[in-house]
Amino acid sequence: MAELVWKDKARPRTGRCSNEECEQGSGGTMGRWRLVTEECYPPEGTDGGAAGMPGERWHNRLIRGDRSAALAALLPEFGASINLIYIDPPFMTGRSFAKDGQLAYQDTWRNDLDAYLQWLYETLVYLHDLLAVDGSLYIHLDWRTSHYAKIMLDEIFTIGAHMGGAGFKNEIIWHYQSGGSSQRSFARKHDTLLLYTKSARYCFHGERVGERRGARRRNHMRKEIGEDGRVSWSISSAGRVYTYDEDTRMAPSDVWSDISHLHQRDPERTGYATQKPLALLERIILASSEEGDLVLDCFCGSGVMPVAAERLGRRWIACDNSDLAITTTRARLLAESQRQPFVVQHVEAVE
Ligand SMILES: C[S@@+](CC[C@H](N)C(=O)[O-])C[C@H]1O[C@@H](n2cnc3c(N)ncnc32)[C@H](O)[C@@H]1O
Repeated sequence: MAELVWKDKARPRTGRCSNEECEQGSGGTMGRWRLVTEECYPPEGTDGGAAGMPGERWHNRLIRGDRSAALAALLPEFGASINLIYIDPPFMTGRSFAKDGQLAYQDTWRNDLDAYLQWLYETLVYLHDLLAVDGSLYIHLDWRTSHYAKIMLDEIFTIGAHMGGAGFKNEIIWHYQSGGSSQRSFARKHDTLLLYTKSARYCFHGERVGERRGARRRNHMRKEIGEDGRVSWSISSAGRVYTYDEDTRMAPSDVWSDISHLHQRDPERTGYATQKPLALLERIILASSEEGDLVLDCFCGSGVMPVAAERLGRRWIACDNSDLAITTTRARLLAESQRQPFVVQHVEAVE
């Protein structure tokens, strides 16, 4: 099979790969890491018996730390047990992002594509190890790097896969109206989300997220308006007529044009530069997980994934190495009217 190669490509030693794979390189985060709890919400012992930290009762986790140390620290407890992973990593935009003069993060990479690819590869190998055998991973990128990620993911998700049906499921185009204009090329108005699963057995609920059929014409179906004014759509196929009410949901497609970028005055906006809309995460979580499932985002930024997970009754783990991301996410979570207990943790090297 085709494989993407770059200068000093090395598979990280996550401790969960086979010896043969581990021999291939010495990249990745060596050493051992542990998670240290800094804060607990509600404060320890005030939520009716959850005195103490995770262990006695589940606490969602907001983790400050570099993705490789945080993921390495999570592996012993959560290896092969995360149901859904969403990541929106740096895209190699060549920019730095700040809010009110405080740096959020740098996405410059000294213009070194090899360094970026190795970094992304290490991240994806760790995430594959954390993913449950029936789990799904979404990676959110754009034209700059999505093609590299796809080849890497094909390698990681299908080489050595113990069950058929693992690997690529969808390339989702998130099409928006804003940005992207150019005099010298077509306007770039979409991001790309790649969906991969660890096996053929995975959670998918298209029926929860399909658009309502509605009354507006969008294809060749015949429109009929009933005496009560309600619209129905019908189509003949192989001698049968299929009729659908305007309230039925269509099978969702891989082009998402109905979710707009957050505009400057959107009440959802936190000021975090690369914040994505909640509607995007809600669609992903609803389609690819069940209530009570565990979802992970190791580049949580403004906290869109944990907030969406909280609202939809999923357990979550969110990480970021930016102080601004952690404070923004924590403030957002504390503003939620209904919230499960969570802890803020950081990652520490074990001597
Ligand atoms: C594109 S933003 C994520 C935005 C987020 N999805 C949202 O909607 O707000 C990428 C995030 O990755 C974080 N990040 C970059 N490098 C990291 C690393 N090595 N470890 C952990 N987080 C990192 C940045 O701080 C930033 O918050």
